[in-house]
Amino acid sequence: MNMNEKTVIVTGASSGIGKAAAEQLKAKGANVVIIGRDPERTKAVGEALNAPYYTADFTDLAQVRELGEKLHAAYPHIDVLINNAGGIYRDKREVTVDGNERTFQTCHLAHFLLTNILLDTLIESKASIINTSSVGAAGLSKLDIHDLNLEKKYANTIAYGNAKLEVTLFAKEFNRRYGKLGVNMVSFHPGNVLTNFASEADGFIHSMYSLALKSKIMQALFAMIGPEEGADTLVWLATTEPGKDWQPGNYYYKRRITKTHKLADDPVVAKSLWEQSERLCGVTYPVL
Ligand SMILES: NC(=O)c1ccc[n+]([C@@H]2O[C@H](COP(=O)([O-])OP(=O)(O)OC[C@H]3O[C@@H](n4cnc5c(N)ncnc54)[C@H](OP(=O)(O)O)[C@@H]3O)[C@@H](O)[C@H]2O)c1
Repeated sequence: MNMNEKTVIVTGASSGIGKAAAEQLKAKGANVVIIGRDPERTKAVGEALNAPYYTADFTDLAQVRELGEKLHAAYPHIDVLINNAGGIYRDKREVTVDGNERTFQTCHLAHFLLTNILLDTLIESKASIINTSSVGAAGLSKLDIHDLNLEKKYANTIAYGNAKLEVTLFAKEFNRRYGKLGVNMVSFHPGNVLTNFASEADGFIHSMYSLALKSKIMQALFAMIGPEEGADTLVWLATTEPGKDWQPGNYYYKRRITKTHKLADDPVVAKSLWEQSERLCGVTYPVL
């Protein structure tokens, strides 16, 4: 697909996979819009790419709302929205200012809200929306749909696996609701990528990941790749045709539909997640 002048909004673009994807999409002629949290990192990427940039901390839904409203006003046409920001956090459960578990809000709820605010533009633009999931959904999730905020049972690995399953469930349910209108959502796993994504974890995950960043043996053992390679499936999804080159609602790895957690195919779970996310974000998605 010719990306010239296409508007592509990327969350988590100040670092890692999002930054690499933004660079590759810019090189293909897209007008990329950089979203980050850290002001300096975000400014550096924006300036290096000569691209507009915005910051918001997704642990605060008021900041996500403000970001969404600014984007809505600035971009009357959006070709691609990349819901990518996220990470794995501490051993001890943390709660955001909105009262949600941190991983759940950062990876899923914030993107659910941002997508809601931009929905009319995304529909009119027949946009592709791409959510960064993870193999961790299949390996780590113990999703209890009655305990989305992990009040009963928390571990950072479970929270991460759940959040990454949730972004796939979001894509499935989004497609059931809006796919017929020509707007499409999909999710993917980037591979095991050498980035900062575990830099805010502690304990075992932090030790393992710090080791992996330094040890060539660990990198080989876990088939770890650099962010440029990690962005490959994401850039491919962003630059090809939904319905033709890829099937909306599915979960991809290495440009192929791939199996993930079995709950990803449960429409009752997806619907419940959607309805609870609406309540927790204080929004309603229209029935169209
Ligand atoms: N690395 C892997 O092996 C791997 C595997 C599967 C999936 N993923 C997923 O890939 C996505 C990108 O991660 P990455 O590996 O590229 O790690 P990264 O280098 O740490 O990038 C994470 C991005 O998310 C942003 N972010 C984190 N917390 C945020 C918050 N509270 N509010 C707003 N933005 C926030 C960061 O912003 P700042 O830098 O500005 O703070 C950064 O731009 C994540 O969703 C991650 O779960 C990664």
